[in-house]
Parts: sequence; C-alpha cells; structure tokens
Amino acid sequence: MSNVTVTVNKTIVFDYDDEFSLLDSMEEHQVPVNYSCRGGYCGSCKVKLTKGNVTLVQDSLVPLPEGEVLACCCVPHGPISIEVD
Ligand code: FES
Repeated sequence: MSNVTVTVNKTIVFDYDDEFSLLDSMEEHQVPVNYSCRGGYCGSCKVKLTKGNVTLVQDSLVPLPEGEVLACCCVPHGPISIEVD
C-alpha cells in the first residue's frame, strides 16, 4: 500500500509505508506515541480514530470505547486521521 496518509492531531501528516503496525509507522516518522507491550495487552498505544478505517493485524485484547484503536494492533486501510493525547 502506498500514498496512505496518516494525519495526527490535525497537524502532523505522514505516509504509512507498509510498516507492521500503525505504531511502528508513527515511530518511524518520529510521532510521539505511548506504548508498552506492543501486543494488544496494555492499552498504552490507544489513539482516537477520527476519520477513515483501519485493518487489524493482531488481536486487540483491551476493551476500547467506540472510535478508539490500538496503534500496535492495526494498520491504516486508506487515509486516516487520528488524535493522540
Ligand atoms: S502497546 Fe500495549 S496495547 Fe499497544
């Protein structure tokens, strides 16, 4: 997949470039993001998905409010916008 843009907090825009997860892609592009387990257990990497869709690459084991996703468990499915605290 190429030319899939990820917009973070309406200010940072980067291209997702086939990294394993959204978390990996954010790190690759020096976007500050919390994480711990990288395996869908801890919930540290949760982000709010405000636009677009994601595809799960591993199971998310944390109950999440509607509209939130774990960055370590998904990749963008087309352009997305997210909000990170
Ligand atoms: S880093 Fe723990 S759930 Fe993503």
